[in-house]
Amino acid sequence: MSEASLNLPYYERVPLTHYINVDWVKELVHFPVSTDDLFIATYLKSGTTWTQQIVSLIQTGGEDSSEHVFNNVPWFEMLGKDAVMALPKPKAMKTHLSYHMMPGRDPAATPAKYIYVARNPKDVAVSFYFHCLRYKCYKFTGSWNTFFELYMKGEVDFGLWSDHVLEWWRHKDADNILFLKYEDMKRDLTSAVQSIADFMGSDLNESIIQKISRKCSFENMKLNPLANPDDLLEVKVKIKNDASSGFLRKGDIGDWRNYFSSEQSVRVDDEFVKKVAESGLEFDYD
Ligand code: A3P
Repeated sequence: MSEASLNLPYYERVPLTHYINVDWVKELVHFPVSTDDLFIATYLKSGTTWTQQIVSLIQTGGEDSSEHVFNNVPWFEMLGKDAVMALPKPKAMKTHLSYHMMPGRDPAATPAKYIYVARNPKDVAVSFYFHCLRYKCYKFTGSWNTFFELYMKGEVDFGLWSDHVLEWWRHKDADNILFLKYEDMKRDLTSAVQSIADFMGSDLNESIIQKISRKCSFENMKLNPLANPDDLLEVKVKIKNDASSGFLRKGDIGDWRNYFSSEQSVRVDDEFVKKVAESGLEFDYD
């Protein structure tokens, strides 16, 4: 049991995640992506599952699938090369890999499409804290303050928030990259669904876009056993019996205010917020 470390495997000085095969990650740098491949790339807790469900519904023209969203849009680096090769085309997958760890090490120069979703670093931190408390693999029972220190040092899955987000942000203008923010999706989901559909080349009419947006509201996803990861057996076995919050926990902007001290807020401003703002990336915090 450790409170000072999440016991993560490392690759190229970046912590990866539990259950991952580091050799597979190395191998995926050489994976031959094609024009039929779509990736949803995120730092953890930034709206990945939400975007997976949106993409999945766009693919079916708004019709419900009989499969769980985690199977419809599987996790690239968790599957490994052989299983990814075997997926039917067109492939939509999620990934938490840093930009330079992706196939070809430069997604903008590949024929695949990439949707990157970023969320403000304060709400990510709180969501991440609950994530670590929830899953058995972290063996984490520490306080918010303990987690905060790990987060600020980048000793959490996929490393420093600012490194991850900035690397993708620098390529946001590439034709095959769509850069979205969680807060914009929250404020106007219909517009976000429309831009994702346009980016995917799906010509859906307005009523289908509206229908997808309704199905992807926080409340509807939470109630949907095929969109809520809590209902998936392979997830259930990994959750602590006394886990206090569900995967779809709050789904809000500004929950960080309930956990951050003013000193912690200033530290995130100094170490993350100002750094990304220098590159023109800004977020809403309320
Ligand atoms: P909170 O813990 O703040 O509630 P990821 O899928 O990348 O792990 O992100 C999980 C976060 O996205 C959780 O944040 C979860 O509640 C939120 N989320 C999932 N579906 C959502 C939706 N339909 N609308 C808003 N937030 C959603």
